[in-house]
Amino acid sequence: MKERLQAMLDTARGAVSEVESEKSLQDVRVHYLGKKGEMTSIMKSMGGLSPEERPIVGALANQVKEELEQLIEARQGDIRQVEIARRLKEETIDVTLPGRRRFAGSKHPITLVTEEIVEIFSSLGFGVAEGPEIEKDFYNFEALNIPKDHPARDMQDTFYVSDDIVLRTHTSPVQIRTMLNQPPPVRIIAPGTVYRRDSDITHSPMFHQIEGFLVDHKITFGDLKGILTTFINCFFGENVGVRFRPSFFPFTEPSAEVDIQCVICGGKGCRVCKNSGWLEILGSGMIDPEVFKSVNYDPEVYSGFAFGMGLERVAMLKYGVNDLRLFFENDIRFLRQF
Ligand code: PHE
Repeated sequence: MKERLQAMLDTARGAVSEVESEKSLQDVRVHYLGKKGEMTSIMKSMGGLSPEERPIVGALANQVKEELEQLIEARQGDIRQVEIARRLKEETIDVTLPGRRRFAGSKHPITLVTEEIVEIFSSLGFGVAEGPEIEKDFYNFEALNIPKDHPARDMQDTFYVSDDIVLRTHTSPVQIRTMLNQPPPVRIIAPGTVYRRDSDITHSPMFHQIEGFLVDHKITFGDLKGILTTFINCFFGENVGVRFRPSFFPFTEPSAEVDIQCVICGGKGCRVCKNSGWLEILGSGMIDPEVFKSVNYDPEVYSGFAFGMGLERVAMLKYGVNDLRLFFENDIRFLRQF
């Protein structure tokens, strides 16, 4: 028995010193010390020893087992050291390699036009306001002179959240919220996201508008024309032609749509302006007395104008973008150009 143990220790010592990897060291460990290993089978056969011999051989077996464990552990330490030394030698970093460049992000074109428009109107004395995108029917429609079941609601296909709550179809509800909160005079622009049940090449169910309105004593249609013409000249250039065309909105009277001379063909007529030479860019008008009544402004004392424009449309014209969808796809090749 003792000889068997001694012989096993000798061969194990040889095996341990020969292995070169942690994996084969593990195999050696299993072979000698594992549940079905040699050590176990020797221990099992100890049952046949006499009661006097058993404690002596048992003690020796434990000693051999311990020694084996230490041997394996020491070898494992050596193998790891060698591995670390090898990696340190092989995996040197070439500090002369050029680095990987990080591209700086750029602002989205819709953000760019929003900032530019806000800047222009700020210089004309307008402040900035915002309102919620999930809006009460009252602010989006009723207070803007669009009663429930009125055919004017068909002008805008609406996402209803519930009977009384909608995704705002335009930024005009910010007019109502602002005027309910403060007495005249007011000069506000309100950029934001709006939603309509529309989706094709020229319509997206989510898009952006900027609303503007001004209320004070003795504001006239002349003020509306002056401010909007000034804005257009700042934004599209001094020489671009502007025209005001009669139109209808429930919340303004009279109302006008504003066209600019086609920025693509300069007014000669092309595919973009459908050969008319003109492009519509915004809706506007004198705020309807009915709207003033719903915010407790006295229409006998105050007057004002309002306008709203689509930012995707304005951005398309400013940057010569020919497909609305480019604004929403976030293709990096498109965005990097701004
Ligand atoms: N809210 C209108 C729209 O979305 C635009 C508009 C705003 C027209 C203010 C007149 C005055 O179509």
